[in-house]
Amino acid sequence: MKRIRKAIFPVAGLGTRFLPATKATPKEMLPIVDKPLIQFAVEEAIEAGLTDMIFVTGRTKRAIEDHFDKAYELETELAAKAKHDLLAVVQSVLPKGISCVYIRQAEPLGLGHAVGCARDVVDDEPFAVVLADDLIDAAPGALKQMVDCAHRHNGSVLGVEDVPRARTRQYGIVSATPVAGRTERVAAIVEKPDPAVAPSTLAVVGRYILSPRVFALIDQVTPGAGGELQLTDAISALLAEEPVFAHRFAGVRYDCGSKLGYMKAMVEFGSKHHEIGAEFAAYLAQRGR
Ligand code: G1P
Repeated sequence: MKRIRKAIFPVAGLGTRFLPATKATPKEMLPIVDKPLIQFAVEEAIEAGLTDMIFVTGRTKRAIEDHFDKAYELETELAAKAKHDLLAVVQSVLPKGISCVYIRQAEPLGLGHAVGCARDVVDDEPFAVVLADDLIDAAPGALKQMVDCAHRHNGSVLGVEDVPRARTRQYGIVSATPVAGRTERVAAIVEKPDPAVAPSTLAVVGRYILSPRVFALIDQVTPGAGGELQLTDAISALLAEEPVFAHRFAGVRYDCGSKLGYMKAMVEFGSKHHEIGAEFAAYLAQRGR
């Protein structure tokens, strides 16, 4: 398999579950303590060795472009005031050697459509897809684990974890057979099945390494679950042509697309934050008594 250099971040979604916070602010800019979700996602991709960040954006998402842009005034101000630590924080948002591309998805037609919008930029290379609202706390990062898996087994890789059967309607669900360690070979994948008919409880959670062949298959997809052009349906077609693996990454995943998951992430990351972690953990302990 060719080197994996490019990551697609579909960020055109409206984020209605976090209204009114997301009325004018992208949900991907919601912070966990002090770092936006999208920055966690980009850092995970960089750690996995990826260099080209491709954001598929929509209206009201300008803040994401600004976040990864150079902030001349802010940097000049911090330098003038000798606030070197903060200057380093600002400058490290996008390390040297990392490039960003922004593509507009004019209509929200689904995740498959969003990924398809990046086709010309990705071209004929394997690539990653990262959904920033699935925040994964892992070392090494989930994407790094999956890139290693893709090279080891020479195929596409989906990041998966078991979910309660009652929740299968929220996910792409795979049926798979064990290969080695945390890796399984995917036999089938279905988008948001009813718990009664779900082939398993193994859910795809916002991380994909995909063969470029999937782009041609996205073109052939017809509206699926929720009337949307689903990435899952293109992956289902890919299964007939190429090996696809499911990797049970080691780590804890927080569903930051839901308020409860977001608050859990806030508490866990807050409790180990370098500035406030100890005090916050003490506060929680005292509050729990
Ligand atoms: C998307 C995918 C689904 C996947 C999920 C992970 O659904 O379509 O297959 O399991 O992300 O978070 P969404 O959450 O956008 O409805």
